[in-house]
Amino acid sequence: MTKSTLLDQLNWRYATKKMDATKVVPQDKLDVIIEAIRMTPTSSGTQPFELIVVTNPDTLAEIQKAAGDQAQITDGSHLLVFAAWDNYTDDRIDEVTDLNVAARGDLPMLNAYYDNLKSNYVPRDAEVNYAHAARQAYIALGVALVAAAEQQVDSTPMEGFDPSKVDEILDLSERGLRSVILLPLGYRDASGDWLLPMKKVRKSAETMVSYVA
Ligand SMILES: Cc1cc2nc3c(=O)[nH]c(=O)nc-3n(C[C@H](O)[C@H](O)[C@H](O)COP(=O)(O)O)c2cc1C
Repeated sequence: MTKSTLLDQLNWRYATKKMDATKVVPQDKLDVIIEAIRMTPTSSGTQPFELIVVTNPDTLAEIQKAAGDQAQITDGSHLLVFAAWDNYTDDRIDEVTDLNVAARGDLPMLNAYYDNLKSNYVPRDAEVNYAHAARQAYIALGVALVAAAEQQVDSTPMEGFDPSKVDEILDLSERGLRSVILLPLGYRDASGDWLLPMKKVRKSAETMVSYVA
């Protein structure tokens, strides 16, 4: 296999269990991770999620309670909350169309494309649309995990929380959003993290990959 910095970074990163509460991720590194999230590709370019960056200690403590007391939420310096649209609406898709028109000009095919998207998405059940939006947020999570590793910032992807409680804490329903995933950022506590010395566990490529040649 060709040597790959990316693979080295993916081996370096791990779902950190214990972060050093005295260390803070510098703004320039945070900016890179956020920009990587912003640049994430999404279905039809709708980017149907928002990112909430939480550093307020009281809010972090409340979220931690809603997440089984996971320590990384308060030991990390920043908590990224990926919050997906609760539904697709005409207005939301029109905003995407406007963004396209502003960047690329008022091409007839653009309007036709997004009109078609609206007629397909908007009548669907809100839960189906939310699930689709949440999948886009997961793509951004993957990109964020890689970006954090590239910046030598530790992170822990988290599904282990009560989304309805986090929605309430952050007033997300009022904004038509639902929390999907949490990502604390910080620095590993090298002597205090039981997971750090452990080997990575991954299926073999033979198990996971098949070829149709
Ligand atoms: C979507 C997702 C949700 C996860 N939820 C949690 C969680 O709530 N708490 C936690 O400590 N780890 C969580 N993990 C970490 C996984 O257990 C971990 O990524 C996996 O075992 C692979 O190990 P590694 O990330 O250390 O390489 C989650 C990972 C993903 C991708």
